[in-house]
Amino acid sequence: MRKVTLTEIFTHPYAQKYMKRAGIVHAVSTAYHAFHIAKENGADPDSAAKAALLHDIGHYTWYNNGTWDYDLYKENDIHAIKGAERAHKLLVRLGEDPKKAKEIALAILLHTDSYLPESSLARTPLQEAVARADEMDEEPGGMHHYRQMDDERTIKMLQKLDRMVENEQNRQTLKHSVS
Ligand SMILES: [Fe+2]
Repeated sequence: MRKVTLTEIFTHPYAQKYMKRAGIVHAVSTAYHAFHIAKENGADPDSAAKAALLHDIGHYTWYNNGTWDYDLYKENDIHAIKGAERAHKLLVRLGEDPKKAKEIALAILLHTDSYLPESSLARTPLQEAVARADEMDEEPGGMHHYRQMDDERTIKMLQKLDRMVENEQNRQTLKHSVS
């Protein structure tokens, strides 16, 4: 049984404030990708979908003389660090299991190595699912951050993914009880 759904995450005012900056289509697409990857690599599909949905919640835009500067952003960005903290705060507020909230925050922290001095990360299956899902939805020049859709459609897509996560959890519970 899940303590928090993707739909509850998205509709919380804290998520509404920060999630849309990096493009809601990218967040939802990455959540779907991460769910499918997790089913294959053995990570928890619920945590993968949640971490992927929230992976860019730490984003803010970099401006140089009033215009968005992608190079400046690439140089100075720490969105994974901010995102891990924001996602953790939001999940705890919503009543998520503390262990799961920590795992999700860590997967967000490590979804990119662009801010680390050396890029030799050994990721867990969950962290790998989120990082790969993000790459699958990336577009050159950061264009994936500009795809938007309205809340009604976003909620419908998240409700559908919530059902997929719950069906998968039921399937796994059944499998374990039979074996
Ligand atoms: Fe991303």
